[in-house]
Amino acid sequence: MINKIAILGAGQMGSGIAQAAAVSDKDVLLYDVKEEFVQRGIKAIQTSLDRFVQKGKLTPADKDAAVKRIQLTVNFQDIAAADFVIEAIPEDPAIKLDAFKRLDGLLKQDVILASNTSSISITRIAGVTKRPDRVIGMHFMNPVPVMKLVEIVQGIATSESTLSTTLELAKQLGKTTVVSKDSAGFIVNRILAPWINEAVYARMEGVATAQDIDTAMKLGTNVPMGPLELADFIGLDTMLAILEVLHNDLGDPKYRPCPLLRKYVEAGMLGKKTGIGFYKY
Ligand code: CAA
Repeated sequence: MINKIAILGAGQMGSGIAQAAAVSDKDVLLYDVKEEFVQRGIKAIQTSLDRFVQKGKLTPADKDAAVKRIQLTVNFQDIAAADFVIEAIPEDPAIKLDAFKRLDGLLKQDVILASNTSSISITRIAGVTKRPDRVIGMHFMNPVPVMKLVEIVQGIATSESTLSTTLELAKQLGKTTVVSKDSAGFIVNRILAPWINEAVYARMEGVATAQDIDTAMKLGTNVPMGPLELADFIGLDTMLAILEVLHNDLGDPKYRPCPLLRKYVEAGMLGKKTGIGFYKY
């Protein structure tokens, strides 16, 4: 039974995962490199929990109990006390590989190390550790407290027992799971990224306005956000990085990132987080 989960990274994904775990009665250790990052993380958790309270989906007492279960730290050594680790730090291979090397040296040999990566190979991450059988992908969707899905990604060396423990944990966090092999983009981004990319091509070619492209897909296919709105929500830099992984790893020109997407990223127009992308915020 997993009781204490350490989460690395208190950003949007890490704090969302911490919240889901705390609400599911797990003790959580939320780690980031700077005090201001963990403070921002816990603030986001409080705001999100308040929304559930306002909707009557959570009692104020349950909210307080969940917040109390989250311990904040900027001391990497504290992670040693965890019996499961979920990494949600920036999507940069050098940073992630270094973190997994350090985690491998710190944690007891039987502890599973999971990564929330959306695009880096789990097999590659596992390769820097001495426990490749205990490394797995746990790809949560944004916003984590609301989205039901977790993609579980099995690297080439991930053991069946690591897989079953992780599936069980995701279930305890109230999530629905799918299992993907360690192939570029896994399931969700393999299909989502080309969909968004095609919408950016349509915009670049002047087929329609951004609003009309999104309205067409929202009302025409019953999705909560149109592709351009969703790209802004995810971050245009993240979308570009995912498409580059698909393009490089699968080698098919159909994944070529749209030049307009590149232009937006070069201009620092990354979507919602910078206040401008396909839309102004
Ligand atoms: N915390 C708590 N509750 C939240 C929340 C948060 N962070 N964000 C939204 N909600 C709740 C709202 O309170 C609301 O609850 P009710 O249904 O009970 O009223 C509900 O979610 C809907 O929110 P809103 O009414 O504010 O806005 P919305 O209807 O536009 O929904 C949304 C917001 C849930 C984000 C919705 O637009 C949506 O599902 N969008 C698509 C999100 C998506 O596709 N995410 C996956 C991206 S891909 C990914 O993450 C993987 C990757 O690697 C890139």
